[in-house]
Order: sequence, then C-alpha cells, then structure tokens
Amino acid sequence: MNIAVVGTGYVGLVAGSCFAESGNDVICVDNNAEKVAKLREGGIPIYEPGLPELVERNMREERLSFTTDLAEAVKKSLVIFLAVGTPTTPSGAADLSSVFAVATGIGKAMDRYKVVVTKSTVPVGTTHKIRELIRKETNQPFDVVSNPEFLKQGAAVEDFMKPDRVIVGSDDPRAGEILRDLYAPFVRTGNPVMMVDIRTAEIVKYAANAFLAARISFMNEIANLCDVVGADVDMVRKGLASDSRIGPAFLFPGVGYGGSCFPKDTRALIETGREHDYAMRILEAVHAVNTEQPTRFVEKVAAHFGGELKGKRFGVWGLAFKPRTNDMRDAPAIPIVEKLLAAGASVSAYDPEAMEEAKRIFGSRVQYCSSNYACLDGVDALLLITEWQAFRNPNFERMKSLMRHPVIFDGRNLYDAEHLRPLGFTYYGVGKR
Ligand SMILES: NC(=O)c1ccc[n+]([C@@H]2O[C@H](COP(=O)([O-])OP(=O)(O)OC[C@H]3O[C@@H](n4cnc5c(N)ncnc54)[C@H](O)[C@@H]3O)[C@@H](O)[C@H]2O)c1
Repeated sequence: MNIAVVGTGYVGLVAGSCFAESGNDVICVDNNAEKVAKLREGGIPIYEPGLPELVERNMREERLSFTTDLAEAVKKSLVIFLAVGTPTTPSGAADLSSVFAVATGIGKAMDRYKVVVTKSTVPVGTTHKIRELIRKETNQPFDVVSNPEFLKQGAAVEDFMKPDRVIVGSDDPRAGEILRDLYAPFVRTGNPVMMVDIRTAEIVKYAANAFLAARISFMNEIANLCDVVGADVDMVRKGLASDSRIGPAFLFPGVGYGGSCFPKDTRALIETGREHDYAMRILEAVHAVNTEQPTRFVEKVAAHFGGELKGKRFGVWGLAFKPRTNDMRDAPAIPIVEKLLAAGASVSAYDPEAMEEAKRIFGSRVQYCSSNYACLDGVDALLLITEWQAFRNPNFERMKSLMRHPVIFDGRNLYDAEHLRPLGFTYYGVGKR
C-alpha cells in the first residue's frame, strides 16, 4: 500500500517505519525542513530504542522516504496519516492548528480517492471537522478515519509492532477494511482490531491516558498520606497490586507523571467536558494532585535543610520524563529544578539521553555533568528524578565519598532505606520512611 505519514515525531516516525517494515511504501512528511534533511542523511532526531535500525533498513530498501512536500506525498498515497503534534493551549485545550493546516493541505492536493486517518490525539469531533475542511477544498471522493495511537515512548517500536489492540473509528466500511488490511501483519497473534464509530475512537484514546494518569495520581495521593502518617507506600502498593481486580501497572508513586501525553490529554479531556457543560471532577483532581507532586518533593528537600535552600548544591539524576527517552516535555524535572534554582540553590545534572533537551530548557543555569557520579561532587544531596536502569544499583560507597552530605531524595522509590542507612545515608522516598 502507498502511505503518507504527516509529522515525523515520536508517533509519525515510528508508525511510518513500522508500516514500511511490513512491506508498504511510506513517505513521511514534516514541515520542519531541518528534521527532514537530517532524516534523509540517516540521522534520527529522537532517542527511541530500535528505531534507528528500522529507519536505516527501510530507507536502504527504498520503502521509506522523507519530504517536506505534503502535496507530493498526498498524490502518491492511498492512505494519509496525520501524526502532527496537538500541544496544550493556555486554556488547557488541545491546539489543533497543525492538524487543521494539514487537513486543508491534503484537501488541496487530493486527486483521487484517499483515506485520511487521524493518528494524532484529538478531541472528540475533530475528525469530523477534518472531513469538513477537506471537503471545502475538493470534490474528490475520500473517507476520514480515527485511528488513535497507544504506543509508549521508550518502547514505541515494540508497542507499534505488537499493539494490545488497534482502534479503527470509521463511518465507512470500505475505509475501515483498508485500515484492517494495513494492520493485519501487526495483529497476527489475535489481538483485536476494534471497529467503532469515529467519536468513540477519539474518546477511547483520551479515556486510556486519563485512566493511567488517574492511577498514578491516586497512588501519589496514597503515598502523600503514607508520608504524613508514617506508613510504607511500597507495601501498600504491593498489597493493592496483588488484587487481581487492580493489578500492578501504573501504581508507582513518585514526583508526578510528565511527558507529551498524560498532562496534555488529561487537561484536554477536562476542557472537552467543560465545552459540553460537564465537569470532569475526577480528572480535575488527577491533574491537581499531579501539579502539586513536584512541589511537595521540593518542600521535602527544603524541610531537611531547615527551610533554607540558598547556597545549597544538588546533584540531579535523570531529567527525561521517563527512562528510555530523551523527551523532556512536561517532565517533573523542570518544575523541580526551577524551584531549586529560584530558591537560590545550584544544580548539577546528568541524564543518559536528555542532556541536549535540558540545555534548551535550562541553558547555562544548570551545570551539566558527563556521568551520574560526576554530578555528585560536593553536593548537599542527590535528587533522583528519573528511574533510568543505570541508576538502579549504583556504587553507594563511591557516591558517599563524593558528596558533601550523604543525603538522598529518591523521587522514584528506587532505593531501599534499610540498605542505605547502615551505609551512613539519610534517605527520603515518596511515601516511605
Ligand atoms: N509521543 C507519544 O508517546 C504519543 C503516543 C500516542 C499519541 N501521541 C499523539 O500523537 C501526536 C504526535 O505526537 P508526537 O509525540 O509524535 O509529536 P512530536 O512533536 O514529536 O511530532 C510532531 C511532528 O509534526 C510536525 N509538524 C507539525 N506541524 C506540521 C505540519 N503542519 N506539517 C507537517 N508536519 C508538521 C513537527 O515538525 C513534528 O516533527 C500528538 O497528538 C500526540 O498526542 C503521542
């Protein structure tokens, strides 16, 4: 099948490469000329395990190409995926300007029957608006489909290749069947391709992200209570997780969820409710708990130092919003570092993949280190923010010898206080003693 994917970010580049890997001819389009030039030269603009090999192989075998020319890509393709960003506007709603600009561009370039697929996460009703925008530009026949994406950054290729389910929202059986054929190689083990209407598909995506975000905020709320009453959230979590009705996923307390999806999509769903005069009260609380979580963490740090952070120096391990990505969009590290700096502290930081992103955000206000140990030199405490694999089992003796004060604020509950205290560390987790 000839496919165009518009937007070569975390979703578009992964989707395009995976569709090429299953034998399709894929043109990826982006209006960022620099990004397209880099991709054409074999460079990968993001860190995503397994992606470079996939892009390289499919480019070499001439199934995958990159362009800035939307019209050319539309003309060559039967199916066009929209995978452009839908960031948050100041009100909290999704910014649909890129989606609508691309829809109009597709309409202008339409020369025969096409299936236009919304893969970007968009509020309910958007795919119908896309249909209207294209219809304004062309008399050619076309269908619109909503096919939301559920991949996780850090395991995006694996998730795309083996999706738990594929949601296809379509009002037209022909378009729905084209999508079913396209996804057939990815669901050979029997995972479902669920055919639903367009609005339902749009809502499934938001409901999934909002539910996962809710589990995290719920657990953070329980952890905060554990902090206050002196209970151990690790054991509470295990007690919950072993209930088969609850299960273990997304129950880890910490410094709050971040990334380009949970914060944005939770807020957008709240806004959608508001637009329809329905208050999404659970999600408002989910968002509020999450916004407070980095502040609570910094307050814990401040409390240890008698409320005075001025002149203190902190080592920060992990800046990306989660491990196995370089993405810092809405990362909890941002408010945490900003609050430390605003209080007059200095920060030396290390992340295995997100250093370039961090430099864009903090500039010269932070000292960037070449390794996790390098940023412990003379610090008053370590703040662990992202649970990278490499931070799980560090050399604590070496750490202690580098630090001015052996104090650890563990924002992801990676370490065991029982192990650290005999070594002379002062240890703070989230919701555990
Ligand atoms: N990142 C994730 O884990 C994830 C998972 C599922 C769904 N989504 C959703 O998928 C969408 C894309 O997310 P992402 O993380 O890949 O975003 P991203 O910001 O990484 O990528 C978006 C790309 O679109 C390009 N773009 C913007 N406007 C364009 C235009 N007019 N024409 C051509 N290209 C344009 C940008 O240059 C960028 O390369 C969002 O709606 C997001 O909510 C993201």
